[in-house]
Amino acid sequence: MSFTNLRPLTGEGKKIFIETYGCQMNFGDSEIVVSIMQEEGYFYTEKMEEADIILINTCSVRDNAEQRIWGRLNEMRRLRRKKPTLLVGVIGCMAERLKEQLLESGKGVDIVAGPDTYRDLPKLCREAEGGGKGINTLLSTEETYADIAPVRLDKNGVSGFISIMRGCNNFCSYCVVPYTRGRERSRAHETIVNEARTLFENGYREVTLLGQNVNSYADGEVNFPKLLAKVAEISPLLRVRFATSHPKDLSDELIATMASYRNICKAIHLPAQSGSNAQLEKMNRKYTREWYLERMAAIKRAMPDCAITTDLISGFCGETLEDHEATLSLMREVGYASAFMFKYSVRPDTFSARHFEDDVPEEEKTRRLTEVIALQNELSLQNNRNDIGKTFEVLIEGSSKRSDKQLCGRTSQNKMVVFDRVEGYGAGDYIEVEITDCSSATLFGKAVVEVE
Ligand code: 5AD
Ligand code: SF4
Repeated sequence: MSFTNLRPLTGEGKKIFIETYGCQMNFGDSEIVVSIMQEEGYFYTEKMEEADIILINTCSVRDNAEQRIWGRLNEMRRLRRKKPTLLVGVIGCMAERLKEQLLESGKGVDIVAGPDTYRDLPKLCREAEGGGKGINTLLSTEETYADIAPVRLDKNGVSGFISIMRGCNNFCSYCVVPYTRGRERSRAHETIVNEARTLFENGYREVTLLGQNVNSYADGEVNFPKLLAKVAEISPLLRVRFATSHPKDLSDELIATMASYRNICKAIHLPAQSGSNAQLEKMNRKYTREWYLERMAAIKRAMPDCAITTDLISGFCGETLEDHEATLSLMREVGYASAFMFKYSVRPDTFSARHFEDDVPEEEKTRRLTEVIALQNELSLQNNRNDIGKTFEVLIEGSSKRSDKQLCGRTSQNKMVVFDRVEGYGAGDYIEVEITDCSSATLFGKAVVEVE
């Protein structure tokens, strides 16, 4: 199977514009959606004003994500006043969660499509073009879009994302994902390896394998470590990353595989959510703080240079000050390189919404989250300072945001490095950079190149 989409992406004809919110999986899905629409003769546009159909790929993981989408829908209504034929579709997690409510919201939504219904989008669009409403929110136990070559909308041309599985079976008590994305299913490994190879042949030098819980990837005999090895073997010049791992499933085999391939990046995103056993149990995370720390020790034993990042939730149901302290102490103990930190947001119909009280007052959630963020900033800075004086192999992504005179790229640990441009080096090249300075978010350095 070839993973190249041969139809032109842009041209004269009906145009779709797509706006994406939420996780990397959603960005990957948008590329699949554009590919499906393109096969049906639609063209892609980057300009919203040019579009005949606007699709918003949405996220439901926290209430503020949904509020942003409602705001966007109001703006779309204004656009539609200028162009009455414009169609607006809501796709993704919010479509799955709210279904008909979106059509009935009075916000001018014409199309609603859940994450497993994208093959049906051309039909839904035709229904809407005919003056009706198009809606499909069926979840599937099989759909992986394995045969669809995603159109690459990210433009750096160096680093690409590949969805390897969909859905989640974990049912963490706070999380809406198992309801909006359905049951876990893995894509056939050959299609993943082919997609990665095609990217490599097109000049990409890094792929990130994506899934809600990649550790439970399974395609017959091929489990996640074996898949990772197959992708790593495409070329030593192709870096491989993955996200996200659930700590309960992080196996010794995975750690050993990561350690044995130089091009499997030494970075693991391992969401802890909380440092308190009582909270972890209520969250239905199925591991303890001790288990998590033991996994961390196993990672460090095999890969002393591996960067660990995490997700943390502040103010989950019943969180006491001691629970909060336990999270802070876990953070110190691990010394995370970086973290995504959130206030707990009740998601309707999840286990915690049905069974626990959202009893930490909003101001207290904010206070705790602020403390968590302040600590993480310190830890990130410390973590980065430890890199000063060391030399890293950096995969160049392009010019730095601030100046054309500087290049930027990432270390294997996924840290961004900014350094002065060197003649003859550009996006997609590897270069050795010695770190001379840092902030909490970025490393600064000097390229080490042999002068002839
Ligand atoms: N409230 C706050 N954060 C949440 N997350 C998932 N659900 C919620 C929620 N209801 C966070 C978790 C997860 C990340 C993707 O989003 O930390 O790892
Ligand atoms: Fe949500 Fe837990 Fe699944 Fe992650 S592992 S998507 S937090 S249910």
